[in-house]
Amino acid sequence: MITINEHYLKLQASYLFSDIAKRVAAFQKNNPDKDIIKLGIGDVTRGLPAAAIKAFHNAVDEMANDATFKGYGPEQGYDFLRQAIAINDFQSRGADIAADEIFVSDGAKCDTGNIQELFSQDIKIAIPDPVYPVYLDTNVMAGRTGTFTDGRYQGLVYLDSTRANNFVPALPAEDVDLIYLCFPNNPTGSTISKAELKTWVDYAREHKALILFDAAYEAFIRDESLPKSIYEIEGAKEVAIEFRSFSKSAGFTGTRCAYTVVPKQCAAYDSSGNRHFLHSLWNRRHCTKFNGVSYPVQRAAEAVYSEEGKAQAKALIDYYMENSMAVCNTMDTLGYDYVGGKNSPYIWIDGRMDSWQFFDMLLNKAGVVCTPGAGFGKCGNGYIRISAFNSHEKVQEAMQRLTKVLSA
Ligand code: MLT
Repeated sequence: MITINEHYLKLQASYLFSDIAKRVAAFQKNNPDKDIIKLGIGDVTRGLPAAAIKAFHNAVDEMANDATFKGYGPEQGYDFLRQAIAINDFQSRGADIAADEIFVSDGAKCDTGNIQELFSQDIKIAIPDPVYPVYLDTNVMAGRTGTFTDGRYQGLVYLDSTRANNFVPALPAEDVDLIYLCFPNNPTGSTISKAELKTWVDYAREHKALILFDAAYEAFIRDESLPKSIYEIEGAKEVAIEFRSFSKSAGFTGTRCAYTVVPKQCAAYDSSGNRHFLHSLWNRRHCTKFNGVSYPVQRAAEAVYSEEGKAQAKALIDYYMENSMAVCNTMDTLGYDYVGGKNSPYIWIDGRMDSWQFFDMLLNKAGVVCTPGAGFGKCGNGYIRISAFNSHEKVQEAMQRLTKVLSA
């Protein structure tokens, strides 16, 4: 008899964004004339940078020609892209990351979900609340949690992010082995200072723990004093893995390209306390289970680092950040408390009511889709997340509708 992985039965009904999409589709079916504005899932809406498109086209043409055709590429990514990443994203900011410490992939979601395979079943995991659901669900699937009781999985250490700590969690009171951090944060849009991040790096060094640092939203940082990479913090290379993505920084959500940095000295331990380098373990996993991102996509990603590509990607970010500002201004005018939006495409708003109720109210009365904070964890209840990824016109319209509903 074939039996299932029963840990899947502990998961909540469906993945948050599928759940929301179903609710919106049902609403649309019952209200076919209603014009819905989506500020829910953080999916980009604008075309790729022209430089990326040009490189994409050229690479497709190369694939049509026997002399320049590419079959399987290196699983870790082509050297041209790994070099461009190392130089532009790290070395230019004083972070000493080498090209061969970069693993190109098809998404930070996949990488943050897959990385937990490297660790043993009985580690103690610290996970923020609210949190990007992938970190949590993949550990549930792997059997590292107990059952879901009172809005939380047993066996995890939750790191509360609330107004009281400015949405930057405090260090855990107990010993933990694996720590998930994401800054600028999804969902709250909060940021972490270098001094605060250093306390986490110091904690990890002291406790022989590992930090999984999701920096998918670093391109939205406007305040130059904030760290874009955890490797800007001294000592982080031994204790941190970082995830990055071209999805939000260059509009690649539908194109798929991301990368994970595993520094060569980053280590974890076996049950006898012997040190093992995670670079070789991740390399082994990557080569066994992944066959690389397509050549044209990697050429398109490389072009994001050309002079024109950089300017075009910056223009994309600036565009979305204007939306962020419009949302912040509306909340200021309405007197709603919020965080985020200043260095992030997400605005986390205290809705002053149950977050699914707020979600339904916005959908029904304004035709605006947001993400209910409760979907990201217990601490998210009462909050909603608004995403800045849409056109200026739609965001303006959404803010007008929202103002009408919330000031009625
Ligand atoms: C989000 O809305 O939180 C993100 O778009 C999800 C993702 O990047 O996978």
